[in-house]
Amino acid sequence: MKFKTIEWRGDRVRILDQRRLPQKVRYVDCQNASSVAKAIRTMAIRGAPAIGVAAAMGIALAAIKDQSKNSLNFIQSTEKVCREMRQTRPTAVNLFWAVDRMQRILDQVHTQGVEKTKAKLVKEALRIYKEDVEVNRKIGAYGKRLIKNGDGVLTHCNAGALATAGYGTALGVIYAAWAEGKKFHVFSDETRPQLQGARLTAWELFQEKIPVTVITDNMAGWLMKEGKINLVLVGADRIARNGDTANKIGTYSLAVLSKYHGIPFYVVAPTSTLDLTLTSGRDIPIEERDIKEVTHFRGCPVTPKGVKAYNPAFDVTPHALIHAIITEKGLIRKPFEKELKKLIEDR
Ligand code: MRU
Repeated sequence: MKFKTIEWRGDRVRILDQRRLPQKVRYVDCQNASSVAKAIRTMAIRGAPAIGVAAAMGIALAAIKDQSKNSLNFIQSTEKVCREMRQTRPTAVNLFWAVDRMQRILDQVHTQGVEKTKAKLVKEALRIYKEDVEVNRKIGAYGKRLIKNGDGVLTHCNAGALATAGYGTALGVIYAAWAEGKKFHVFSDETRPQLQGARLTAWELFQEKIPVTVITDNMAGWLMKEGKINLVLVGADRIARNGDTANKIGTYSLAVLSKYHGIPFYVVAPTSTLDLTLTSGRDIPIEERDIKEVTHFRGCPVTPKGVKAYNPAFDVTPHALIHAIITEKGLIRKPFEKELKKLIEDR
Protein backbone atom coordinates (compact mmCIF):
# COMPACT_ATOMS: atom_id res chain seq x y z
CA MET A 1 0.00 0.00 0.00
CA LYS A 2 1.22 3.46 -0.82
CA PHE A 3 -0.37 5.07 2.23
CA LYS A 4 -0.72 4.57 5.98
CA THR A 5 -4.23 4.76 7.42
CA ILE A 6 -2.95 5.36 10.93
CA GLU A 7 0.49 5.69 12.45
CA TRP A 8 1.89 5.86 15.96
CA ARG A 9 4.39 8.70 16.08
CA GLY A 10 5.59 8.49 19.67
CA ASP A 11 4.00 11.71 20.89
CA ARG A 12 0.98 11.78 18.56
CA VAL A 13 -1.23 9.66 16.36
CA ARG A 14 -1.24 10.43 12.65
CA ILE A 15 -4.46 9.68 10.83
CA LEU A 16 -5.09 9.86 7.10
CA ASP A 17 -8.15 12.10 6.86
CA GLN A 18 -10.63 9.96 4.91
CA ARG A 19 -13.21 12.75 4.77
CA ARG A 20 -11.04 14.52 2.21
CA LEU A 21 -10.34 11.57 -0.05
CA PRO A 22 -10.08 11.18 -2.97
CA GLN A 23 -9.47 14.86 -3.72
CA LYS A 24 -6.83 15.45 -1.07
CA VAL A 25 -4.38 13.27 0.83
CA ARG A 26 -4.14 15.05 4.17
CA TYR A 27 -3.21 13.86 7.63
CA VAL A 28 -4.62 14.80 11.01
CA ASP A 29 -2.03 14.84 13.78
CA CYS A 30 -3.82 13.98 17.01
CA GLN A 31 -1.86 15.26 20.00
CA ASN A 32 -4.25 13.90 22.61
CA ALA A 33 -6.92 11.27 23.17
CA SER A 34 -9.82 13.68 22.66
CA SER A 35 -8.68 14.54 19.17
CA VAL A 36 -8.39 10.81 18.38
CA ALA A 37 -11.95 10.33 19.70
CA LYS A 38 -13.11 13.25 17.54
CA ALA A 39 -11.39 11.74 14.48
CA ILE A 40 -13.34 8.51 15.05
CA ARG A 41 -16.66 10.27 15.68
CA THR A 42 -16.37 12.53 12.66
CA MET A 43 -15.11 9.67 10.49
CA ALA A 44 -11.70 11.07 9.64
CA ILE A 45 -10.90 7.45 10.35
CA ARG A 46 -13.56 4.76 9.92
CA GLY A 47 -13.99 1.04 9.32
CA ALA A 48 -14.35 -1.44 12.18
CA PRO A 49 -10.73 -2.61 12.66
CA ALA A 50 -9.27 0.87 12.00
CA ILE A 51 -11.36 2.54 14.70
CA GLY A 52 -10.32 -0.20 17.14
CA VAL A 53 -6.65 0.55 16.43
CA ALA A 54 -7.29 4.30 16.70
CA ALA A 55 -9.04 3.93 20.07
CA ALA A 56 -6.16 1.82 21.42
CA MET A 57 -3.57 4.34 20.23
CA GLY A 58 -5.64 7.18 21.72
CA ILE A 59 -5.61 5.46 25.10
CA ALA A 60 -1.85 4.84 24.87
CA LEU A 61 -1.32 8.49 23.95
CA ALA A 62 -3.34 9.67 26.95
CA ALA A 63 -1.39 7.31 29.21
CA ILE A 64 2.09 8.48 28.20
CA LYS A 65 1.04 12.12 28.56
CA ASP A 66 -0.61 11.56 31.94
CA GLN A 67 0.93 13.56 34.78
CA SER A 68 -0.76 11.72 37.65
CA LYS A 69 1.34 11.38 40.78
CA ASN A 70 -0.10 8.06 41.91
CA SER A 71 -1.58 4.91 40.41
CA LEU A 72 -5.13 5.64 41.56
CA ASN A 73 -5.25 8.95 39.68
CA PHE A 74 -3.60 7.33 36.68
CA ILE A 75 -6.23 4.58 36.61
CA GLN A 76 -9.06 7.07 36.97
CA SER A 77 -7.90 9.33 34.17
CA THR A 78 -7.06 6.45 31.80
CA GLU A 79 -10.40 4.79 32.49
CA LYS A 80 -12.10 8.08 31.62
CA VAL A 81 -10.35 7.97 28.25
CA CYS A 82 -11.48 4.36 27.75
CA ARG A 83 -15.07 5.50 28.37
CA GLU A 84 -14.64 8.39 25.94
CA MET A 85 -13.43 5.98 23.26
CA ARG A 86 -16.34 3.60 23.89
CA GLN A 87 -18.77 6.44 23.23
CA THR A 88 -17.43 7.40 19.82
CA ARG A 89 -19.33 4.92 17.63
CA PRO A 90 -21.68 2.14 18.75
CA THR A 91 -21.87 -0.56 16.07
CA ALA A 92 -18.39 -1.89 15.29
CA VAL A 93 -17.46 -4.28 18.08
CA ASN A 94 -13.74 -4.10 17.19
CA LEU A 95 -13.65 -0.74 18.96
CA PHE A 96 -14.90 -2.25 22.24
CA TRP A 97 -12.68 -5.29 21.78
CA ALA A 98 -9.60 -3.06 21.45
CA VAL A 99 -10.57 -0.90 24.45
CA ASP A 100 -11.11 -4.06 26.51
CA ARG A 101 -7.59 -5.21 25.63
CA MET A 102 -6.19 -1.85 26.77
CA GLN A 103 -8.28 -2.00 29.94
CA ARG A 104 -6.82 -5.43 30.78
CA ILE A 105 -3.30 -3.94 30.58
CA LEU A 106 -4.38 -1.01 32.73
CA ASP A 107 -5.66 -3.45 35.36
CA GLN A 108 -2.07 -4.64 35.83
CA VAL A 109 -1.00 -1.25 37.21
CA HIS A 110 -1.21 -2.47 40.82
CA THR A 111 1.48 -5.06 40.24
CA GLN A 112 3.48 -3.27 37.55
CA GLY A 113 3.45 0.39 38.66
CA VAL A 114 2.54 3.42 36.55
CA GLU A 115 5.62 3.80 34.36
CA LYS A 116 5.77 0.16 33.36
CA THR A 117 2.02 0.17 32.66
CA LYS A 118 2.39 3.17 30.38
CA ALA A 119 5.02 1.34 28.35
CA LYS A 120 2.83 -1.76 28.25
CA LEU A 121 -0.17 0.24 27.02
CA VAL A 122 1.88 1.59 24.11
CA LYS A 123 3.13 -1.91 23.37
CA GLU A 124 -0.41 -3.29 23.38
CA ALA A 125 -1.72 -0.58 21.03
CA LEU A 126 1.12 -1.32 18.61
CA ARG A 127 0.43 -5.03 18.92
CA ILE A 128 -3.25 -4.49 18.04
CA TYR A 129 -2.08 -2.54 14.99
CA LYS A 130 0.45 -5.14 13.87
CA GLU A 131 -1.84 -8.09 14.48
CA ASP A 132 -4.56 -6.51 12.37
CA VAL A 133 -2.32 -6.35 9.29
CA GLU A 134 -1.21 -9.96 9.82
CA VAL A 135 -4.79 -11.13 10.30
CA ASN A 136 -5.87 -9.40 7.09
CA ARG A 137 -3.09 -11.10 5.14
CA LYS A 138 -4.29 -14.47 6.45
CA ILE A 139 -7.88 -13.64 5.52
CA GLY A 140 -6.67 -12.77 2.02
CA ALA A 141 -4.82 -16.06 1.74
CA TYR A 142 -7.93 -18.05 2.69
CA GLY A 143 -10.32 -16.02 0.58
CA LYS A 144 -8.40 -15.60 -2.67
CA ARG A 145 -9.37 -18.99 -4.07
CA LEU A 146 -13.01 -17.87 -4.22
CA ILE A 147 -12.18 -15.44 -7.02
CA LYS A 148 -11.74 -16.95 -10.47
CA ASN A 149 -10.32 -15.53 -13.69
CA GLY A 150 -12.94 -13.45 -15.46
CA ASP A 151 -15.12 -12.94 -12.36
CA GLY A 152 -17.10 -9.83 -11.56
CA VAL A 153 -16.73 -9.11 -7.84
CA LEU A 154 -19.13 -6.75 -6.14
CA THR A 155 -18.21 -4.97 -2.92
CA HIS A 156 -19.94 -2.40 -0.75
CA CYS A 157 -18.61 0.48 1.36
CA ASN A 158 -14.88 0.23 2.06
CA ALA A 159 -13.39 -2.80 3.74
CA GLY A 160 -9.88 -2.11 2.52
CA ALA A 161 -6.57 -0.86 3.84
CA LEU A 162 -8.31 2.38 4.79
CA ALA A 163 -10.75 0.54 7.03
CA THR A 164 -8.05 -1.44 8.84
CA ALA A 165 -4.47 -1.09 10.01
CA GLY A 166 -3.54 -2.14 6.48
CA TYR A 167 -4.40 -4.45 3.55
CA GLY A 168 -8.09 -4.80 4.36
CA THR A 169 -10.61 -7.58 4.78
CA ALA A 170 -12.94 -7.82 1.75
CA LEU A 171 -10.39 -5.88 -0.30
CA GLY A 172 -7.63 -7.99 1.25
CA VAL A 173 -9.17 -10.99 -0.52
CA ILE A 174 -9.18 -8.99 -3.75
CA TYR A 175 -5.54 -7.88 -3.28
CA ALA A 176 -4.44 -11.46 -2.57
CA ALA A 177 -6.22 -12.85 -5.65
CA TRP A 178 -4.81 -10.08 -7.82
CA ALA A 179 -1.27 -10.64 -6.49
CA GLU A 180 -1.60 -14.23 -7.61
CA GLY A 181 -2.10 -13.07 -11.18
CA LYS A 182 -5.84 -13.65 -11.44
CA LYS A 183 -7.67 -11.29 -13.79
CA PHE A 184 -11.09 -10.13 -12.72
CA HIS A 185 -13.17 -6.98 -12.39
CA VAL A 186 -14.39 -5.23 -9.24
CA PHE A 187 -17.68 -3.35 -9.03
CA SER A 188 -17.86 -0.92 -6.14
CA ASP A 189 -21.20 0.33 -4.85
CA GLU A 190 -20.88 4.07 -4.29
CA THR A 191 -22.44 3.57 -0.80
CA ARG A 192 -24.70 6.47 -0.03
CA PRO A 193 -24.72 8.61 2.00
CA GLN A 194 -21.00 8.82 2.81
CA LEU A 195 -19.76 7.38 -0.50
CA GLN A 196 -17.09 5.13 0.98
CA GLY A 197 -17.31 2.91 -2.11
CA ALA A 198 -16.95 5.73 -4.65
CA ARG A 199 -14.41 7.77 -2.72
CA LEU A 200 -12.34 5.19 -0.83
CA THR A 201 -12.65 1.73 -2.37
CA ALA A 202 -12.23 3.11 -5.89
CA TRP A 203 -9.24 5.20 -4.70
CA GLU A 204 -7.51 2.19 -3.16
CA LEU A 205 -8.10 -0.19 -6.06
CA PHE A 206 -7.24 2.42 -8.65
CA GLN A 207 -3.84 2.95 -7.03
CA GLU A 208 -3.17 -0.78 -7.16
CA LYS A 209 -4.25 -0.82 -10.82
CA ILE A 210 -7.04 -3.29 -10.13
CA PRO A 211 -9.89 -2.75 -12.62
CA VAL A 212 -12.80 -1.15 -10.79
CA THR A 213 -16.12 0.27 -11.89
CA VAL A 214 -18.17 2.40 -9.53
CA ILE A 215 -21.94 1.96 -9.64
CA THR A 216 -24.70 3.66 -7.70
CA ASP A 217 -26.24 1.47 -5.02
CA ASN A 218 -29.50 0.98 -6.93
CA MET A 219 -27.70 -0.57 -9.93
CA ALA A 220 -26.48 -3.72 -8.19
CA GLY A 221 -29.63 -5.80 -8.89
CA TRP A 222 -29.53 -5.05 -12.58
CA LEU A 223 -25.85 -5.94 -12.87
CA MET A 224 -26.61 -9.25 -11.20
CA LYS A 225 -29.48 -9.86 -13.62
CA GLU A 226 -27.16 -9.12 -16.53
CA GLY A 227 -24.72 -11.76 -15.28
CA LYS A 228 -21.93 -9.32 -14.48
CA ILE A 229 -21.53 -10.35 -10.84
CA ASN A 230 -20.16 -13.76 -9.79
CA LEU A 231 -19.66 -13.14 -6.09
CA VAL A 232 -20.17 -10.49 -3.45
CA LEU A 233 -17.55 -9.69 -0.79
CA VAL A 234 -18.41 -7.36 2.09
CA GLY A 235 -16.83 -6.47 5.43
CA ALA A 236 -18.54 -6.52 8.82
CA ASP A 237 -18.89 -4.35 11.88
CA ARG A 238 -20.32 -6.93 14.24
CA ILE A 239 -21.24 -10.58 13.84
CA ALA A 240 -23.63 -12.12 16.35
CA ARG A 241 -23.43 -15.71 17.62
CA ASN A 242 -25.80 -17.03 14.94
CA GLY A 243 -23.88 -15.33 12.10
CA ASP A 244 -26.22 -12.35 11.64
CA THR A 245 -23.95 -9.57 10.44
CA ALA A 246 -24.07 -5.80 10.82
CA ASN A 247 -22.35 -3.90 8.05
CA LYS A 248 -22.77 -0.65 6.15
CA ILE A 249 -26.34 0.24 5.28
CA GLY A 250 -27.23 -1.36 1.96
CA THR A 251 -25.45 -4.63 2.70
CA TYR A 252 -28.74 -6.35 3.53
CA SER A 253 -30.28 -5.34 0.18
CA LEU A 254 -27.26 -6.81 -1.60
CA ALA A 255 -27.62 -10.07 0.31
CA VAL A 256 -31.31 -10.34 -0.65
CA LEU A 257 -30.46 -9.60 -4.29
CA SER A 258 -27.66 -12.16 -4.23
CA LYS A 259 -30.00 -14.84 -2.90
CA TYR A 260 -32.54 -14.16 -5.65
CA HIS A 261 -29.89 -14.34 -8.35
CA GLY A 262 -28.07 -17.36 -6.85
CA ILE A 263 -24.83 -15.43 -6.32
CA PRO A 264 -22.62 -16.37 -3.34
CA PHE A 265 -22.55 -13.64 -0.71
CA TYR A 266 -19.47 -13.67 1.55
CA VAL A 267 -18.80 -11.75 4.74
CA VAL A 268 -15.09 -11.10 5.28
CA ALA A 269 -13.99 -10.24 8.81
CA PRO A 270 -11.41 -10.90 11.50
CA THR A 271 -12.49 -12.80 14.61
CA SER A 272 -12.27 -9.49 16.52
CA THR A 273 -15.56 -8.63 14.76
CA LEU A 274 -17.38 -11.53 16.44
CA ASP A 275 -19.64 -10.73 19.34
CA LEU A 276 -20.66 -14.05 20.82
CA THR A 277 -22.43 -12.31 23.70
CA LEU A 278 -25.26 -11.51 21.30
CA THR A 279 -27.57 -14.34 20.31
CA SER A 280 -28.70 -12.68 17.10
CA GLY A 281 -28.44 -9.54 15.03
CA ARG A 282 -31.55 -8.14 16.72
CA ASP A 283 -29.36 -7.04 19.63
CA ILE A 284 -26.71 -5.22 17.58
CA PRO A 285 -26.82 -1.47 18.27
CA ILE A 286 -27.27 0.41 15.01
CA GLU A 287 -25.75 3.85 14.78
CA GLU A 288 -28.00 6.62 13.52
CA ARG A 289 -26.18 9.57 12.05
CA ASP A 290 -27.14 13.16 11.27
CA ILE A 291 -29.97 13.32 8.71
CA LYS A 292 -27.99 16.03 6.92
CA GLU A 293 -25.94 13.22 5.39
CA VAL A 294 -29.16 12.27 3.55
CA THR A 295 -30.78 15.65 2.98
CA HIS A 296 -27.54 17.20 1.71
CA PHE A 297 -24.95 16.13 -0.79
CA ARG A 298 -21.50 17.53 -0.05
CA GLY A 299 -23.07 20.55 1.63
CA CYS A 300 -25.82 21.14 -1.00
CA PRO A 301 -29.44 20.46 -0.05
CA VAL A 302 -31.03 17.73 -2.20
CA THR A 303 -34.41 17.54 -0.46
CA PRO A 304 -37.08 20.12 0.33
CA LYS A 305 -36.09 22.15 3.36
CA GLY A 306 -37.53 20.68 6.56
CA VAL A 307 -38.48 17.28 5.08
CA LYS A 308 -38.05 14.24 7.34
CA ALA A 309 -35.15 11.87 6.72
CA TYR A 310 -33.74 8.76 8.32
CA ASN A 311 -30.10 7.78 8.45
CA PRO A 312 -29.22 4.39 9.98
CA ALA A 313 -25.51 3.88 9.22
CA PHE A 314 -25.68 0.08 9.30
CA ASP A 315 -28.08 -2.78 8.68
CA VAL A 316 -28.11 -6.42 9.71
CA THR A 317 -27.93 -9.24 7.19
CA PRO A 318 -29.60 -12.42 8.49
CA HIS A 319 -27.24 -15.39 8.59
CA ALA A 320 -29.47 -17.37 6.20
CA LEU A 321 -28.41 -15.05 3.39
CA ILE A 322 -24.68 -15.48 4.03
CA HIS A 323 -22.82 -18.14 2.07
CA ALA A 324 -19.76 -18.21 4.33
CA ILE A 325 -17.72 -15.99 6.64
CA ILE A 326 -14.07 -15.61 5.72
CA THR A 327 -11.84 -15.12 8.78
CA GLU A 328 -8.14 -15.41 9.57
CA LYS A 329 -8.90 -18.92 10.81
CA GLY A 330 -10.41 -20.02 7.54
CA LEU A 331 -13.84 -20.17 5.90
CA ILE A 332 -16.70 -20.57 8.32
CA ARG A 333 -19.71 -22.33 6.87
CA LYS A 334 -23.14 -23.12 8.28
CA PRO A 335 -24.29 -23.85 10.90
CA PHE A 336 -22.55 -20.62 11.92
CA GLU A 337 -23.49 -20.82 15.59
CA LYS A 338 -21.68 -24.14 16.06
CA GLU A 339 -18.73 -23.25 13.82
CA LEU A 340 -18.17 -19.80 15.33
CA LYS A 341 -18.24 -21.25 18.84
CA LYS A 342 -15.62 -23.82 17.85
CA LEU A 343 -13.50 -21.09 16.36
CA ILE A 344 -13.54 -18.97 19.49
CA GLU A 345 -12.79 -21.93 21.73
CA ASP A 346 -9.47 -22.41 19.99
CA ARG A 347 -8.81 -18.68 19.64
O1 MRU B 1 -19.34 3.86 8.73
P1 MRU B 1 -18.07 3.17 8.34
O2 MRU B 1 -17.43 3.73 7.12
O3 MRU B 1 -17.13 3.05 9.51
O4 MRU B 1 -18.54 1.69 7.97
C1 MRU B 1 -17.58 0.76 7.56
C2 MRU B 1 -18.15 -0.53 7.16
O5 MRU B 1 -19.31 -0.78 7.26
C3 MRU B 1 -17.15 -1.58 6.76
O6 MRU B 1 -17.68 -2.41 5.76
C4 MRU B 1 -16.80 -2.43 7.97
O7 MRU B 1 -16.40 -1.62 9.02
C5 MRU B 1 -15.74 -3.43 7.69
S1 MRU B 1 -14.17 -2.68 7.48
C6 MRU B 1 -12.99 -3.88 7.29
